[in-house]
Amino acid sequence: ARTAPPARTRSGLMRAVLFGHGTVGGGVAAALPAGVRLDGVVVRSRRSGLPRSVPVFTAPDEALALKPDLVIEALPGGAQAEAVLERAVALGCHVVSANKEVCARRPDLAARAREQGTAFLCSAAVGGGVPVLETVERLAHGGQGLSRVRGVLNGTSNFVLDRLADGERLDDAIAAAQAAGFAEADPGADLDGRDAACKLALIARTAWGVDLDPAAIPARSIRDLPAGLPAKAAREGRRVRQVAALARAGDGVHAGVRLEVLDLDDPLSRARLEGNCVVLTPETGTPLILSGKGAGRVPTAASMLADIARLVAERCR
Ligand code: HSE
Repeated sequence: ARTAPPARTRSGLMRAVLFGHGTVGGGVAAALPAGVRLDGVVVRSRRSGLPRSVPVFTAPDEALALKPDLVIEALPGGAQAEAVLERAVALGCHVVSANKEVCARRPDLAARAREQGTAFLCSAAVGGGVPVLETVERLAHGGQGLSRVRGVLNGTSNFVLDRLADGERLDDAIAAAQAAGFAEADPGADLDGRDAACKLALIARTAWGVDLDPAAIPARSIRDLPAGLPAKAAREGRRVRQVAALARAGDGVHAGVRLEVLDLDDPLSRARLEGNCVVLTPETGTPLILSGKGAGRVPTAASMLADIARLVAERCR
C-alpha cells in the first residue's frame, strides 16, 4: 500500500530524526537549516558529545515511532542503515542519506519514494562536497544530454596511490587514510573499486534512469597493482589514478573502474588526497569538469545539508 507523504506540522517545521552522530552526522546536526526541527538522534550507544537538547535513542524503532517528516541517515553503513532506509521509505518519510552502498544496491527504495511522492536524496553519496549528482541531473535532463562520465570518485584511492608512489607500504597507506577519516570501515571497498562502482550506479540512475548492479561493474583493485608501478609513474612525471567511467551505448550503459597511468595534463591527475574530479561530457556542448573535496566531515555534511535545504525550499513553495 502507498503511504501518504507526512503532513507538515502546523508550524510549518519539518520534524527530523537523525540516524548517526559520528563524523558526518555530527556535522549535519550542528548546522541544520531553519525550517527543520530535530526531534531525535539515534546512536548505537550513549556517549559524551551527543546533543543535550534533543532526545537520544538507541532503538531505531522508538525514534521512527515519532513519525518524522524527514529521516536523515548518516550511519556507517551495513545492515542497520539498510533497515532504517527501508523503514523510513515504508513509513512515507522523506529521506536524505549519504549511504552510497545501500542507495546504489537498492534502487527499489528511491523508486518507491518517487511513486509515493516523497523525496529520496543522496547528493553526499557521490563526490562528497562536489555537486556531482545535481550537475548530472542538470545536464542529462536540462537539454544538453549526457553521453559520458569519467572521474576519480574515491578519495582514499588517491591518498593510497600517492603514498605508494612515495615508497610507503600498502598497509601503512591504508592506515593513514583511515586515520584521516576518508577510508571506509572496510577499506577493501575503496581499494577494489567497489565504492566507486556504487557511485557510478547512482550517476547512471540519475542520468539515464538505468539501474546498474554495482557488484557487476568490472573493477581493478589497487591490491593487484604491480609493485613499484606508482613509483615508476611518478619518476616519469605521471600519476596512477583509480578512474571510474560510464558511457551511454544505445539503450545500455558501459561501466568500469580502472587503474590508469595519467599524464599531468589530464584533469583527473589533479585529484590529490581526498579530492574527487569528474569530467561530464554532454551530447551537445563542451565537457564540464567538477572537482573538490570528495570525503570527510565538512564536505559530506555540506552536501547532506544542501539536500535538506532543497527539500525545505520545495515544501515551502
Ligand atoms: N571512502 C570514500 C572515499 C568516502 O575515500 O572517497 C567518500 O565517499
